Amino acid sequence: ALRGSFARKAQKPNQSSHHGLQLQASYKVAILGAAGGIGQPLALLIKMSPLISALNLYDIANVKGVAADLSHCNTPSQVLDFTGASELGNCLKGVNVVVIPAGVPRKPGMTRDDLFNINANIVKTLVEAVADNCPDAFIHVISNPVNSTVPIAAEVLKQKGVYDPKKLFGVTTLDVVRANTFVAEKKNLKLIDVDVPVIGGHAGITILPLLSKMKPSVRFSDEEVEQLTIRIQNAGTEVVEAKAGAGSATLSMAYAAARFVESSLRALDGDGDVYECSFVQSDLTDLPFFASRVKLGRKGIEAMIPSDLQGLSEYEEKALEALKPELKASIEKGIAFAQKQP
Ligand code: NAI
Repeated sequence: ALRGSFARKAQKPNQSSHHGLQLQASYKVAILGAAGGIGQPLALLIKMSPLISALNLYDIANVKGVAADLSHCNTPSQVLDFTGASELGNCLKGVNVVVIPAGVPRKPGMTRDDLFNINANIVKTLVEAVADNCPDAFIHVISNPVNSTVPIAAEVLKQKGVYDPKKLFGVTTLDVVRANTFVAEKKNLKLIDVDVPVIGGHAGITILPLLSKMKPSVRFSDEEVEQLTIRIQNAGTEVVEAKAGAGSATLSMAYAAARFVESSLRALDGDGDVYECSFVQSDLTDLPFFASRVKLGRKGIEAMIPSDLQGLSEYEEKALEALKPELKASIEKGIAFAQKQP
């Protein structure tokens, strides 16, 4: 279920929904931070989806041109632009999926946590508006540090009395995309067949690929497991360093985020076979938030998959225990930030 590319799935001709209707544009998606490095290519990829009737682009600047440009693509969705706080509410009205890539990215030498001070406030403000204008929407948080911004979003939604833990997602799809790519490369596998679950969080050692649980089942030496795990954990930093001050992953991130949007729309549309890894409220471990594979349905998360965390390799068990203190601290930092705000 996890393996299709979003575009291939979405473009199957004559696919009927659970209502027996033709697959057609009907969902509204908003991107907050749409003029940014991730926002622009993400908007382009989403514009290709036949499931979307409206694509609302919001940013604090430069979004008019992005929308004018995209609106010339002859795909179904109508593209609208919204600039600045006064237009945020209108951007969000009636929206089914809100994607949040707003905020500053890393520069060489920075950790994701170094972004906390700026991005925490941005996410808080944006999620308040989501709570006021489209409390039923699926919320996809991309802004880093995801390990903290998702708990912040949860607190904000709780304060507003509209928190639905089944609809709040930290986007960790890029970790899965990277894991699939690197493993397929290393083992000469056909990419389409490869599906590596990635659990934990979205920063450094909190990113834990479960190579023992991947499809197809593949044998790795201890050394290969170690090398692949470390490469997947540091892949973001690989891009930050290669871009040398010009930002972090944007194109692969847009690809991954578009896949997660497409999966969400298929779930909303009644597809009963949609699974993605995401950082969500969770009772699979003793941590309140945790990334793991979830089954998506019309109301958000339909099921967690506890068996994914059973029968781990010794390496994975150790790595899981080792990541918990950092992940716990990042979660608590986010909660504390949101609770001390007026
Ligand atoms: P960017 O700087 O190119 O774009 C960010 C956009 O957000 C800009 O257009 C900016 O105007 C906008 N923005 C800033 N404040 C805003 C506000 N209050 N409301 C609305 N928009 C606002 O940054 P980029 O490369 O697009 O990265 C965005 C975020 O995504 C960063 O926090 C980065 O760390 C994160 N990221 C997350 C990944 C993940 O796997 N979850 C992977 C890569 C990046």
